Amino acid sequence: MTAPKPLVAGNWKMNGLKEALSEFQAMGKGYGAELQSAVDLMICPPATLLYTMSVSAVGSGITTGGQDCHQNASGAHTGDLSAEMLSDAGASAVIVGHSERRADHGESDGTVKAKAEAGWRAGLIAIVCVGETEAERDQGATLDRIGSQVAGSVPDGARADNTVVAYEPVWAIGTGRTPSAVDVAEVHAHIRKELTDRFGEEGAQMRILYGGSVKPGNAKELMAVENVDGALVGGASLKAADFLGIAAAYG
Ligand code: 13P
Repeated sequence: MTAPKPLVAGNWKMNGLKEALSEFQAMGKGYGAELQSAVDLMICPPATLLYTMSVSAVGSGITTGGQDCHQNASGAHTGDLSAEMLSDAGASAVIVGHSERRADHGESDGTVKAKAEAGWRAGLIAIVCVGETEAERDQGATLDRIGSQVAGSVPDGARADNTVVAYEPVWAIGTGRTPSAVDVAEVHAHIRKELTDRFGEEGAQMRILYGGSVKPGNAKELMAVENVDGALVGGASLKAADFLGIAAAYG
């Protein structure tokens, strides 16, 4: 059985005006044939940049994604974007269930699952995020929490080519703190078991990303952990040098 091809995805969150596209172009320039064969790269910019970035991405080998979508295809939902709109703007994936959306917008596992299905409906890969809070980790509840989020957020019908799971401990996001390699291994093994129990070989081949304070300096160690098939990167994905430095863990 071959390991899935790793994916390093950047989540720009609510960062980036038009001039930030020069960083994206620099990423494309640094993503040579050798790196392209070793690792997939993706940037999920704010929706305002998605179309322009997607046009600029043509020929670079880097794909683009949205950061969220509404579960419906269209309708009276002021301010929301459908998965079809993201696809129309050039996205090939959508992040769903990021902890910032779960916290800021009260998204439940059921909502996240519906959004993942909406992504599939539009032909997008769903990047489903899960992660425990610091309090849950301190209580020894991490594996239970992750297990229930995966069970509730990943829809039936998930396959290796339409779904990516991202483990992002809430307390590691934007803090400069990361779990130990042993702790990451434990959680990723737990997710892998749940995915293979439910989806068989598809679950074995599904990519499981680690996210939370991934930087060029720690990427090699984190990406070497068993069942870590890449990274979901926030702050360090805004600069080409940092993002390529993380991708170089696979170079
Ligand atoms: P940081 O890499 O900034 O910690 O953010 C991680 C994240 O939330 C990516 O989705």
